[in-house]
Amino acid sequence: MKILVINGPNLNMLGIREPDIYGKGTYPALIEMIEDYCDKKGVEVDFFQSNHEGDIVDEIQDAYNEFDGIVINPAAYTHTSVAILDALKAVGIPTVEVHISDINSREEFRKHSYVSLVAKKTIAGHGFDGYLEAIDCLLEKDEPTEEK
Ligand code: DQA
Repeated sequence: MKILVINGPNLNMLGIREPDIYGKGTYPALIEMIEDYCDKKGVEVDFFQSNHEGDIVDEIQDAYNEFDGIVINPAAYTHTSVAILDALKAVGIPTVEVHISDINSREEFRKHSYVSLVAKKTIAGHGFDGYLEAIDCLLEKDEPTEEK
């Protein structure tokens, strides 16, 4: 199992950025936490962070035939990007959406997510742990169909 973890704009500023909302943990600390978890689970993991929508689209396209799952926190692009939604649909890689904060209990404009239209699951408001839950979700096998 090979998983790509994508983080969108301003998530490189974790730890500095609005710590009351996103916590004090830094982006490198987040990566280390996910790496340790994936090590334990025997999962191969790769990371990508960008502040640029097109670069995220390129990365998703490059993941085609390379990765078995995507964990994505599209950050602000969650609420605006049809291009990221379309890229995820194009590659058809099982995807779990993560938000550190609870986007449903913040401003109205954060309640709508384009990516959730394609995501297997959306995890919001669980802090950094949400990324680990997303890994677990990708590791879950589809329910076996009942034998008749
Ligand atoms: C976020 C929530 C988004 O609304 C915001 O634009 C972010 C981070 C989160 O992780 O809680 O940049 O995706």
